[in-house]
Amino acid sequence: PAAHTADLVVFGGTGDLSMRKLIPALYHSDREGRLSPETRVIAMSRGGLTDADFRGKVDAEVRSGLPVEDESHWQRFLGRLHHVSVDVGREDSSGWSALAELLAGYEARDRVYYLASPPRTFGPFCRELEQAGLVTPRSRVVLEKPLGHDLTSAQRINDEVGAIFDERQIFRIDHYLGKETVQNLLVLRFANAFLEPIWNSLWIDHVQITAAETVGTPGRRGYYDHAGALRDMVQNHLLQLLTLTAMEPPARNDREAIRDEKVKVLQALRPITGGEVERFTVRGQYTEAGDMVGYLDEPASTPPNEASRRVETFTAIRAEVKNWRWAGVPFYLRTGKRMPYRRSEIVVQFKDVPHSIFPGGAPNRLVLRLQPEEGIELHIMAKEPGAGETTLKPVPLSLSFGKTFTARVPEAYERLLMDVLAGNPTLFMRRDEVEAAWRWIDPILDAWQAGPSLPEPYPAGSTGPAGAHELLGRSGRAWHEEEM
Ligand code: BG6
Repeated sequence: PAAHTADLVVFGGTGDLSMRKLIPALYHSDREGRLSPETRVIAMSRGGLTDADFRGKVDAEVRSGLPVEDESHWQRFLGRLHHVSVDVGREDSSGWSALAELLAGYEARDRVYYLASPPRTFGPFCRELEQAGLVTPRSRVVLEKPLGHDLTSAQRINDEVGAIFDERQIFRIDHYLGKETVQNLLVLRFANAFLEPIWNSLWIDHVQITAAETVGTPGRRGYYDHAGALRDMVQNHLLQLLTLTAMEPPARNDREAIRDEKVKVLQALRPITGGEVERFTVRGQYTEAGDMVGYLDEPASTPPNEASRRVETFTAIRAEVKNWRWAGVPFYLRTGKRMPYRRSEIVVQFKDVPHSIFPGGAPNRLVLRLQPEEGIELHIMAKEPGAGETTLKPVPLSLSFGKTFTARVPEAYERLLMDVLAGNPTLFMRRDEVEAAWRWIDPILDAWQAGPSLPEPYPAGSTGPAGAHELLGRSGRAWHEEEM
């Protein structure tokens, strides 16, 4: 069903995220009839563009990547788009009055302010909106990551935004929550009877959560030097996957019930502090290999400095959830740039059978793949056909979403934008959730910062530094692909 008619105001509206993800997501939703015909999209940027300029830019830069079959529909879609120039930090308030003018008379609509701009602008933008009288009871605000760079800065942003918007109006995005397999994880766990009884430390040996990317960071060093893999991927995406894997069954499929359970997992994470950081975490930075340059030689507007040398493009962590269900089960988290493949997955490694009557054999393993191809695989032991001795062979029972379902798998942002427009915050992070995640991350960052050591080098295109393999190897375990 089409969402309510809304005005969606995107700050950073001509930026990378908007052009690459948001506008295509809106187009797909429109094409499938999920956008109300009157809904408008207002891009805010410093660009000084007119509506016509902005529509021309979208036509030139976005159209070619989309399945545009119907010219008149495309023109109607472009007709939804508007542009307002605004310059933050300047005395000039003409942008805000131009926005006010565009929104005047539409106070009864849902209004969504999507802040796809740097986090330092979140507070100021909210205050400007308030001063311009643009925050209506039906307004919502969407905050893109990164939400701060540590607990204190995240709290400050939350306070600033919270001074203007109620928590129920604030939507903090983690686009991993919009991915199909991530939502499917809840269905798999809580709509099937066979998993839950064994989903605990009695049956599970450990869990691996990997988000490996082949891309490097060309042109992104300005951001990345101060982010690094821990802030960029672990604090949000990987911890979200961990919470969904580890959470208790919620009593209802509702926004607060699910988020309450997720927060409890974050609060149960065993802190990694001081000397333990060295033992339980690994940092890496990619170096030149073949025709790929190292991190420090990636094209950037400024030469590399001390922050560049210290920043991790790879990290692996041994986490633990200290509660009744998970005591003693390691959760290994791993993410890196310039790895040999693009693959995100959750691997649940079961324990071995209590007593084996066959030679060979390997414990069961459940693999939930988020990308590249979304699917679920359960590795079981089977008998290899033959009249001779019984030989065991691990074989996958697999479900490929692409092959099983014919419907197009929507992009994460599509789902999330539709949820914001419909006012459903289930797949967004609550304030206490984000802050609990930072509370666990901060001591690791502090120890890395205080220590003299630099990240371990790993050649671009490899599976990360040696330390990452030792992290599992010292307890006789190995990363999933090493055993495939
Ligand atoms: C973003 C990070 O949040 O997620 C990027 O800032 C990363 O560095 C991206 O590349 C990965 O997203 P996906 O959907 O491609 O796994």
